[in-house]
Amino acid sequence: MKQDLLDGEWVYKEENYRRAFELIDRYVDAFADGLSSGRSIRAEEIDVKRVLLLGIGGSGIVCDVVAEILSSRGIVTHVSKEYTAPPGEWDLIIAISYSGNTSETLNSLLQFLDQEDKIVAVTSNGRLARLGEKLGIKVVKVRSGIPPRYAFPDMLGGILGYLEKLGLDFAKMNLEEIKEFQEGLKKDKRIDENPAKEAAVKISKSHPIIYVYREVRLPGYRLKCELNENAKVFCHYAEIPEALHNDIEAIPRNGLMIIPRSFREPYEISKTIEALSRLLGEEKSLELRARSKSYLEEIIELFMLSDYISLYTSVLRGVNPLILHRIERLKDINAAYHEIKRRLDEELG
Ligand code: PA5
Repeated sequence: MKQDLLDGEWVYKEENYRRAFELIDRYVDAFADGLSSGRSIRAEEIDVKRVLLLGIGGSGIVCDVVAEILSSRGIVTHVSKEYTAPPGEWDLIIAISYSGNTSETLNSLLQFLDQEDKIVAVTSNGRLARLGEKLGIKVVKVRSGIPPRYAFPDMLGGILGYLEKLGLDFAKMNLEEIKEFQEGLKKDKRIDENPAKEAAVKISKSHPIIYVYREVRLPGYRLKCELNENAKVFCHYAEIPEALHNDIEAIPRNGLMIIPRSFREPYEISKTIEALSRLLGEEKSLELRARSKSYLEEIIELFMLSDYISLYTSVLRGVNPLILHRIERLKDINAAYHEIKRRLDEELG
């Protein structure tokens, strides 16, 4: 059976899978490296009330997580995934682009170059790093040479480390517990005791439909993006309860409803999910659970679980989880991209 592939050894020797798993197996260490990189940036404590975050795709989701963390402390945040950002008074502008060359992020940042002391950038290289050097912008450097989405823990750690220097300490976590959770997802854990492999088998036979509610919006979105980019799987994503007033009428026959669950889940949502899986049949639904009962640890565990699921799905589908064809090609043929890069290169001199 095809699913036996996941418990085999040879498939993970294939270079692309070997490399991809090697990258995500380092999740916790990568987060810790990011933290120390962020902590090494010079900074004074400031009163942060309004924060703008710029970033898209694999870097944008880091902005989403940071924004959610900041909002939980009453800080006003706005995440911009556009070519231009909303003008306004911001105490801190966080620009995240792993490659340092993403036009949406760079173009938005150009609007704020006269406020360089408020900007902190997170990148591995590229024009963003050069801009930092030229204008004296603070830059948190993360390891280079990997696909952007695989640097999620590095970039998250990087920005949390920097925020700590500003007096915003969010990074206290039990990393050992997260590592333990991760052990259960690794490739040597057999399918019958590995929730990531089990989920990948179900996903590869169906049309995945991710339903999220407020507390798990981001892990659900991460799973969607990772299935798209790593496993090349088209995937539906919607929010409940709203989707239960429209979307459910059109679930395809081979639809698989995937719902991340949280210890913070409201009672009404729990009851609604119970009813929904009774309605659709248990075999048509898949729940994703973390082990931790603390906010940030749970988010990281659910992200990790999503990343492993996407890689096992890529193995079952025989696709390369490291390479993006259309995204890169579109960047190449997009005139707006070239125009923005030209303007930036003028700025860089
Ligand atoms: O994961 C990916 O490779 C993409 O989603 C990229 O993150 C996206 O294209 C933006 O690039 P960057 O993260 O380098 O700004």
